Amino acid sequence: MTSSIEHKQQQIEATLRLAPVIPVVVIDDARAAVPMARALVAGGIRAIEITLRTPAALEAVRAIATEVEGATVGVGTVLTTGDLATALQAGARFAVSPGVSPRLLDAADDCDLPLLPGAATASEAMSLLERGYRHLKFFPAVPAGGHKLLGAWAGPLPQLRFCPTGGISLATASDFLALPNVICIGGSWLTPAAKLVTGDWAGIELLAREAAALQVT
Ligand code: 3PG
Repeated sequence: MTSSIEHKQQQIEATLRLAPVIPVVVIDDARAAVPMARALVAGGIRAIEITLRTPAALEAVRAIATEVEGATVGVGTVLTTGDLATALQAGARFAVSPGVSPRLLDAADDCDLPLLPGAATASEAMSLLERGYRHLKFFPAVPAGGHKLLGAWAGPLPQLRFCPTGGISLATASDFLALPNVICIGGSWLTPAAKLVTGDWAGIELLAREAAALQVT
């Protein structure tokens, strides 16, 4: 039997609480996956989102899931119902989507992989709440209205907790993390393409350490 939405919400909550920041990774070479993930974990970052935007993504998920102790690996940029099944098979423990479609939500109900669905408006957030989602990605966080918009939802939508992602940096992270309805944030700045290409694992560990030290209120 498939896990209930409530059970999957508890799993997502536990993942989002692992660290203040979830790195959003675009990986071109799966061989970089394991050393990158080890560097992130060494720096205190334990949930890692590998976006399904490159052919190397699923192999990277597989490698991290089997080889990196302390890492909770998930997939991002989930767009189709098939993405959920392949991600689960590869060893992903959570999935993130930039938005939702009715078909994707139906597939998520029938799949054991917990989904963090994206919302950019109060109406989208309310529709997801109706389907049992209390944890949402706020995307694209800065272009959609930033911390002021998200903070304004805390009053009328107190049941919801968000992982804002899109346009956030170390310098602006605290604006979001200070909000009562933010559980953690997502960002790509922890794993810059240049560091992945050159194998600068010490540099990635340092970025992870800075992010892990951010205060969540
Ligand atoms: C994405 O989907 O690329 C994420 O939202 C990351 O956004 P960022 O590159 O602005 O951190």
